[in-house]
Amino acid sequence: MYNEIDLDKIDINLKPPMEEPARQYYFMARCREWVREFERKNGRRPTAFIQTFGCQMNSRDSEKLLGVLRTIGYQEADSEKADFVLYNTCTVRENANQKVYGKLGFLQTLKRRNPKMKIAVCGCMMQETDEIETIKRSYRFVDIVFGTHNIYKLAELLDKQIQTEKQTIDVWEDTAEIVEDLPNQRKFPFKSGVNIMFGCNNFCSYCIVPYVRGRERSRNPEDIVAEVERLAADGVVEVMLLGQNVNSYGKTLKEPVSFAQLLQRVEAVEGIERIRFMTPHPKDLSDELIAVMAQSQKICKQIHLPIQSGSTEILKKMNRHYTKEQYLGLVERIRAVMPDISITTDIIVGFPGETEEDFLETLDVVRRVRYDSAFTFIYSKRSGTPAAEMLEQVPETVVKERFERLLLEVQKISSELTGKDVGKTELVLVEEQNAQNSEMVTGRLSNNMIVHFPGGTELIGKILPVKLIEAKGFYYIGEQEQK
Ligand code: 5AD
Ligand code: SF4
Repeated sequence: MYNEIDLDKIDINLKPPMEEPARQYYFMARCREWVREFERKNGRRPTAFIQTFGCQMNSRDSEKLLGVLRTIGYQEADSEKADFVLYNTCTVRENANQKVYGKLGFLQTLKRRNPKMKIAVCGCMMQETDEIETIKRSYRFVDIVFGTHNIYKLAELLDKQIQTEKQTIDVWEDTAEIVEDLPNQRKFPFKSGVNIMFGCNNFCSYCIVPYVRGRERSRNPEDIVAEVERLAADGVVEVMLLGQNVNSYGKTLKEPVSFAQLLQRVEAVEGIERIRFMTPHPKDLSDELIAVMAQSQKICKQIHLPIQSGSTEILKKMNRHYTKEQYLGLVERIRAVMPDISITTDIIVGFPGETEEDFLETLDVVRRVRYDSAFTFIYSKRSGTPAAEMLEQVPETVVKERFERLLLEVQKISSELTGKDVGKTELVLVEEQNAQNSEMVTGRLSNNMIVHFPGGTELIGKILPVKLIEAKGFYYIGEQEQK
């Protein structure tokens, strides 16, 4: 296991081993020599900064990348004024790419002042050939580029770049491999994401994810449970099981396991108090899963159920494999056994061919389901996806106007819903000191709502009963319940 590996015991004069993760520990040991040399010359350790764009999957990947850098000997920096800067990118919407290029321009000016600075870019955007070409052509100062399938190779790529001093690019189209037991550095000591699967096989017609994250692969349940046990032993009380479509977890394993069965195994881990997961696809959310959630003491009563559109016609064009009625039926089945569950969603406005009638169907679903919150997106054309070829793109002004109407509706409903629990006492996992007021702390309810209440930093990581005094739109002000 990684925390038992002593890098000093690795002979870096031998050839690198071929098997993983031993190979990466070998390169970590080599990079650490380079870090020690840096320390001797500069009288300080080199610093590293990682910025993550996009989803929780990327956040978890960044924890792994930071774990490798820490093991090598880098010290974490809190801004780009660092010796190593890594952008872990997202490409789900077009403006995400533009943002990265803007930031790279800024890094170039920093590198002029610190020519030894290393710049690396990885993640989903780097899985697109056009972007790699742009980096090669116009961003020569970027030292290392890698994709989503080989993030575990950071130490090896860094070593190669140090040796060659050339732009090092390594991007794979896909992989069947899952490398276990590498270091990781959690952002929060008391909660953690846990990957249960990688990739996506759904090919929703607007979405680039299946092309940049590859085919679905599930981790073995034993590896997942072992990781959760290690986390629990290390003080973690909340885990978020991560996958692009958790409902299809385990289908391709040699001994198939359902997601509901996996949840039960995670639930059995002592010390874990809260379990969340992300993201289930409405098309194959099973009654078994609903039943397991309903009877569980640990699985949070919260579900993120992306609708994308309320129009059956558009859902068909999106390749989502459910109708408006089936989705509403699913929500009904969930609420029948968990009336208080919080339901959140993702909605795309302006998908090609969306008419006013289609949009009204979306508003209708929003009003019927009454989401606790919804992430609303303007459709973004991603080249390489089938939707990008669809001819009837909706004019920008029409999309903007629909988007505003949707946002108003979503916000109105969520602020009405926040009020419903005022006066109740609920358990809160305290996450951090309040950003505005150092005499308060901020935590989350089981349904993921945020609560601020008076208290000190010694409460961080604890689960406490808090009385919800006041609802303020998207959060509560509370008061710790005295025993
Ligand atoms: N345009 C807009 N939103 C998108 N999403 C995925 N692809 C696109 C796109 N091309 C949204 C979906 C998904 C969320 C993570 O991002 O709503 O659920
Ligand atoms: Fe994209 Fe659909 Fe896969 Fe989600 S399920 S990652 S929206 S293709």
